[in-house]
Amino acid sequence: MTDVSTAEDKRLVIVRPVCELQGRTARMEEVLSSTVDRLRSEGVQVTVVAMASELQRISLAGEHVLFAICLSEAGVNMEYYRLLEYFRQHPDCLEGAVGGIIVDGSSELFTKALARRLAFSANMAGCLFPGKPVVEATGSLHNFDVLSMVRDVPSMEVYKQQVEELARKLIDFKWPQGEERLRVLAVHASSRGTSNTLLLWDKVRSYLEDRADITEISLRNGSMTDCRGCRYEECLHFGENDGCFYGGIMTEQVYPAIINCDALVMICPNYNDAIGANLTAFINRLTAIFRTHDFSKKRIYALVVSGYSGSDIVAEQVIGAINFNKAFIMPGHFCLTETAHEPRSILKVPDIDRKAARFAQIIR
Ligand SMILES: Cc1cc2nc3c(=O)[nH]c(=O)nc-3n(C[C@H](O)[C@H](O)[C@H](O)COP(=O)(O)O)c2cc1C
Repeated sequence: MTDVSTAEDKRLVIVRPVCELQGRTARMEEVLSSTVDRLRSEGVQVTVVAMASELQRISLAGEHVLFAICLSEAGVNMEYYRLLEYFRQHPDCLEGAVGGIIVDGSSELFTKALARRLAFSANMAGCLFPGKPVVEATGSLHNFDVLSMVRDVPSMEVYKQQVEELARKLIDFKWPQGEERLRVLAVHASSRGTSNTLLLWDKVRSYLEDRADITEISLRNGSMTDCRGCRYEECLHFGENDGCFYGGIMTEQVYPAIINCDALVMICPNYNDAIGANLTAFINRLTAIFRTHDFSKKRIYALVVSGYSGSDIVAEQVIGAINFNKAFIMPGHFCLTETAHEPRSILKVPDIDRKAARFAQIIR
């Protein structure tokens, strides 16, 4: 189909929860207004929402939404919490929305954690995030040092450029066209037959098989070595040959499968409130081919099972690593989280078949 949309059809909603400390907002306001002025001059319709209560009358479903959060000296924004509350109470309020996040902090801390938390809650309410959907400005702006050197402009200018690039990424986002049959790669490091998370995947898989070609890779049994942290040039050199210093299962099986897949499913039991070591090594070692391949049309999905609690923070780790850093698209409702402790007890979770079937439908 021909795309006949014009700038006039294009819209951006900026959700900028009010920050009570007036002195703190000037920097983000300056950056935002430079983008907003330019977009408006091109005919893009820009709406600004400052209070969560406005969402009672302004729907975000189907919109391009730029969340812009300014933090107080103590790294807090109270209205941001009201926003989270609204998203968690209205689980479909962001259905079909495409989101991006700006966080402007006053110190070197709290910006990333806040972005991950917001992305998780907005995603649960249906919001898709394209790859690399976050612009962080730490208090000193030192996080822009490398880009400032590469682009040969001051940090404040990099900040402005990044915000404008992000706004345009949201407005122009299109779901990637692909082959008729979906190519899915599932990675895990669990024991077949006892792992609750893997049993949950088996169920999801059974609902996917008629429309997807599925590759499953186990990263168990000491086959994984974590990233060595080679110098940038060395890593780039290995990546250009689809390799890595260590070789092994990553280069022989995982890299070709990643390059070939449309959708990656990470099967993540909660180990000490974190992704397990093998899967963490898997993420770290993606760096070599991330430098030489475009991941921005691939989609990330996750299954997270905790024995007791904490699935949200494991899911947030996946978001930070694979969506924020490795640029995979995170579709709405990207993660199915469950709680089950005894081996195989996931099978007794009420409604588990229906949940697995619904999650399989989300994978596309
Ligand atoms: C090394 C290890 C650490 C774990 N840490 C946690 C934890 O921090 N919080 C939690 O809720 N469950 C924890 N669990 C329990 C698992 O999350 C639980 O067994 C769940 O069913 C998923 O694991 P499974 O897929 O291996 O069955 C831990 C299990 C192991 C083996």
